[in-house]
Formats: sequence, structure tokens, C-alpha cells
Amino acid sequence: AGTAAAGLVALPLSACEAQNSLFSADGAGANPLAIPELNQGIVEQGERVFRLSISAGQKEFVPGVVSPTIGVNAPYLGPTLEMRRGERVRLHVDNGLDDGATVHWHGFELPAAADGGPHQLIRPGARWSPSFEVRQRASLYWYHSHLHRGTGPQVYAGLAAPIYVRDDEEDALDLPSEYGVDDIPLIVQDRVLDNSGKLLYPQNMHAQMMGVRGDRLYVNGTQNAVFDARTGLLRLRILNGSNARFYDFSLSGGQTMQIIASDGGLLERPHAVRSLRLAPGERAQILVDLSEGRPLSLVATSPDNSMGMMGGDGGGMMGGGMMGRRRDDTEMDEPFRVLDIRPSDSSPQRKLPSQLAPLPALDPSLAVRTRRFVLDMGMMGGGMSINGASMDMNVINERVPAGQWEIWEIANASMMAHPFHIHNAQFRVIDRNGRTPPPLETGYKDTVIVDPREQVRLLLRFEEHTDPDLPYMYHCHILEHEDAGMMGQFVVVDS
Ligand code: C2O
Ligand code: CU
Ligand code: CU
Repeated sequence: AGTAAAGLVALPLSACEAQNSLFSADGAGANPLAIPELNQGIVEQGERVFRLSISAGQKEFVPGVVSPTIGVNAPYLGPTLEMRRGERVRLHVDNGLDDGATVHWHGFELPAAADGGPHQLIRPGARWSPSFEVRQRASLYWYHSHLHRGTGPQVYAGLAAPIYVRDDEEDALDLPSEYGVDDIPLIVQDRVLDNSGKLLYPQNMHAQMMGVRGDRLYVNGTQNAVFDARTGLLRLRILNGSNARFYDFSLSGGQTMQIIASDGGLLERPHAVRSLRLAPGERAQILVDLSEGRPLSLVATSPDNSMGMMGGDGGGMMGGGMMGRRRDDTEMDEPFRVLDIRPSDSSPQRKLPSQLAPLPALDPSLAVRTRRFVLDMGMMGGGMSINGASMDMNVINERVPAGQWEIWEIANASMMAHPFHIHNAQFRVIDRNGRTPPPLETGYKDTVIVDPREQVRLLLRFEEHTDPDLPYMYHCHILEHEDAGMMGQFVVVDS
């Protein structure tokens, strides 16, 4: 289930190798950046109510060639949901597909029954109406399919979109916050098209092992995107919504950008950086200074995150000859354009605040226990696992007492980097192989990169025990790894 509605077919290896070159402009020229519609829901009886309808759609990834897609209230992707911390929301989700679907609120701390993981299946034609209190700090979150063994193809076909949570703490700061004007969501996704230009979800062994990585880049579904900005500060909320590809973002001309927020909201202060690495599932918010009025580009490279294990130079674990070097996995050392930004009319000159939000001191000594999670891929990707076990819907892997601080130690035994994501949590990163984490990881996170031979320690606590039988997930956010079983289940129990 899952793949049929999207009408995507497996691609033989030889056809993959005949793909166009990486991130080719495709002669399509520049296109205005699509901005997802802002949906604030309707307040009814003390709840903010959203109506979301999942349905099959169509999209031209190249002009003139129609591909089947999935969208929420739209042919592809969906609206940005805006909510406030502290309020109650209810989301009526109608599944108009011929397949089952789920919708997971990524980054939210909520009761397991509202989580939208694989246990909250919405059958074709059915409606699911979870309700929960928004406990998150202001930030960029997102919602996406979490269908058991079918998340990869459904997200790829378009079942993903942003969530903005706002709160008083952030409103008190003078940050750009006019949606679509100086506060822009950027859903960055790569896609593979077949030779006729149709969207294609490769299902060969290479794609299962490395995750599906495309040779064309789309931002909010737009290729070669251009955004007409105001001068002054521009706030970009970047979501790596790709199935498997990692990106290193930077600004053209070596200009610095200010990181202001991570997955779970504002950092203590802005950090000036030249580059920013995001794995699938991760978000970051940056401020770009356009006060000079000069056009610039957000660019990215996409380094090979697999230590050559699929062949190519250096005799990787699969051997170069067996799988062949594939263009869609070439390391992209040459930066390619993500978004061209053209500042024009002037806007009020804002100053970058020197302080953002005070965060509690990171104190690992609070932890009463340590849990260890070892990520592995097995031979030929046949054993995608955590602590030696593959995802089993009927097995609870961890029972975590509510209200107690724990250290989760995530170790990577494979030769490829994995973004580790935990549901129902915003955690802090203590260290990486004993080293201090980079600026983006000084705030709250729900997804964290674990490099090969690395061990990352997280500090977290689940506030409440909920349904003792209904689990939450932790998993690799490379969606093909998740679908192949690099996922486990935990329940939060009474302590
Ligand atoms: Cu964004 Cu369990 O997923
Ligand atoms: Cu999640
Ligand atoms: Cu993985």
C-alpha cells in the first residue's frame, strides 16, 4: 500500500544512469517561488480547527509533463498551518486517497493517539480528528505522512507541509514575521524524473540502501526559484523535506547568515555562520541581511554522506563495479542554486537582536539513566535496525518513565550518516564524541545527525505518561531507512 496512489514505478538501474546531469536548469529559466497558502484554521468553541483533505493531485515538474502527486488541500504539498503556543487545536483530516495514509505532526509533544504515527492509520475515505494542546515553543515544524512501510513514497509524492507555531516570547522580539513577505518557509526537496519528465520513485537496491536522492531540486515545489524580497532582514525557515539528501547551505559571495532558531525554536542568540548542514527532517531559521539591496542566492552543496560505501572512488563497501558510480550520488562540491533573492523596495530597517531567548542550562547530571541506541544497516541494507532489531509494530522497544531526565546515546555502526528523530520530544544535544556541538545544536532539536563512527548524546525528558499501550516512534529520518525498519517504538509510563 502507499505507492499505488502516487502511480510511481520502479526504475531500472540503467535508466537511472541515463538521467540528466545534477540539478540541471532544464532550460526552465527562473520561476517565482511558490509560497504555501497560510491556513490559520477557525476558532470554534475554544479550539482552533483545521480542515485538511488529503487527495491525489497532479503537478508539472517540467512544463507540459503531468505527474500524479499527493497533496493536502492542494495538488502537491499543503498549506502552512499557523497555531499559537498554549491553545488547543483540532485537525480534521480526510483521506481521499485509494490508499491508507497517516499525518504526523513532526516536532510536537502530544498524546500518542494524536501523534499521527503508523498506528493512527486513516483508511481510504475515513476522517481522523486528533485534538491537542500546542506545547511547543514558536518555531517551524511540519506535518507529513508516516504510513507504515510507505512513508517514503507518500512524502515524495507530496504529503508534507510546514507548521508555524507562534508565541509571546518570540512576538516580543522584533523579528521579521510577515508570512510570505519577510518570513518565508523553504521546503527543500530533490526529485527524480524519468526520461519523459514524469516524477519517479526509484525502488532499486541503490535507492533502498542510500535513500531516494534526486537530481533536481525543488523549493516549495518550484524549480529554479526566485523570490522578490524587501530590503532589510529576510527570515528564511528552511526545512530539509528531502527523503534522503543532506545539504550544506550557504549564501553566494561568502556572505554570513545568522542562525536564529533550530527545530524547537529560538536559540539564545544569533550565530553568524557561513554554512549550515541540514539532514532530512531538520529545520533551521536564518536571517539574511539584504540592507545593501544587492541580489544574492541561497546555495547548497550536497556532500556524499556515505563514505563511498556505494562504490566510486576508494573501493567502497559495495565495490565500484557492482553498483556503479551514479550521477545522483555524486558529491556536489560545486554549489548549486537553491533560491535567488532579489531585494527591491525598501522596508523598515530592523536591527538584529543580540539576544533571542534564554534557554535552561544544559545539565547532563540531571539524568537518572542512560539509554543506548545503535543504528545499523546490516549487509546490503538488509538489516536496517536499531539495537539489532527492525521495526515491529507489535513490539514496544523502550518503556520510558515520565518526568525523569535521561541521556539517550545514539551510536552509528554503519558507514553512512543518519538523522535520528524522536517523537513527542524536544531534546538538547550534549556532545558529539565528547565534542561541543555546532551553533545550530545549542537549542532544542527533535532530529539530529549521527555521523559514521559517531556517538551523539542527547538530554531529554517526557513530561507526561499517556496511553501505556500506544507507542511513539524514534527512527532514522532517511525515509527509505525508516520504511525498511530503522525505527523503534517507546511508551511513556508512569514513574
Ligand atoms: Cu518526521 Cu517520525 O517523523
Ligand atoms: Cu516526528
Ligand atoms: Cu538512516
